[in-house]
Amino acid sequence: MFDPVKFIDESVELIKKQAVGKAIIACSGGVDSSVAAVLAGRALGDNLLAVFVDTGLMRKDEPEEVEKMFRDSGIELRRVNASHEYFEALRGVTDPEEKRKAIGEKFIRIFEREAKAFGAKYLVQGTIAPDWMESGAEGHTKIKSHHNVGGLPEDMNMILVEPVRNLYKEEVRQVARELGIKSSERQPFPGPGLAVRCLAEVTPKNIGIVREACHIVEDETAKAAEKGKLKLPWQYFAVLLPARSVGVGKSGRSYGMTVVIRAVESADGMTATHSDIPLSVLNKISKRITDTLKDDVGRVVYDLTDKPPATVEWE
Ligand code: XMP
Repeated sequence: MFDPVKFIDESVELIKKQAVGKAIIACSGGVDSSVAAVLAGRALGDNLLAVFVDTGLMRKDEPEEVEKMFRDSGIELRRVNASHEYFEALRGVTDPEEKRKAIGEKFIRIFEREAKAFGAKYLVQGTIAPDWMESGAEGHTKIKSHHNVGGLPEDMNMILVEPVRNLYKEEVRQVARELGIKSSERQPFPGPGLAVRCLAEVTPKNIGIVREACHIVEDETAKAAEKGKLKLPWQYFAVLLPARSVGVGKSGRSYGMTVVIRAVESADGMTATHSDIPLSVLNKISKRITDTLKDDVGRVVYDLTDKPPATVEWE
């Protein structure tokens, strides 16, 4: 059985051996990178710089919440505001793999810049087992390039240190609980952020639409769970599709885009089943989305597909 206490001791010792000198840690605020940050912090002390990149592709209020979470836990975080760089890199990119590669490359170029300024040659990442498996490493079939594995450029000049590389999500959560990390129960959020939930062109406007839709799905689902109408799903969010359909708006005919509600149950993200959300809750979410986003979204649908054959995210 997995022993989080033993894992913590062993990985702190291992990081000390792997990273001799200064390192930076790529923090997103999620449980995987937060665990990696605390472990690396214990191993490296002042030789570690925690860097958080605001990609402009994060959820509502997320950058501020991440900053606060790190501040509260005594870890100093350097925030890099890079949203314009990401939107520039994603201009005109629609192919999902190209999108993931463009984002992975941008992350690395920013980390290289930060590492150079700090004098670090190591990059600590919170990569977990499904990330590299699904990216096709070590003989696995490639499903999608996770931003922190298959999305990395070949010419990167930092040495990777990945303390939670062999753990699955539930094991990472066990370690997080042991370390007292606040985001231990937070639902997963992909490194490429809302870009892989926006099948329309990745523009600030479309990202704003999917951000609001995701917020509504999270908010209404959490409220319904509090009222005992459902158990909080493993992951729940919205996806924006460029598919337009005809509707009846206040001022006549509308022709808006489509939002998909996605909610799944899973243990490790490798397989998943759709969540059984009551229709009344789905309808409430749908109404709030079409009210709030009435100029852009004309239809809301619910994704009933399991993984396999689908994946959790749409790209
Ligand atoms: P998929 O879409 O592959 O997702 O079925 C499985 C789980 O992984 C998350 N995910 C990612 N996490 N970097 C990440 O850190 C990524 O590039 C990435 N892509 C997907 C996804 O949200 C789900 O929880």
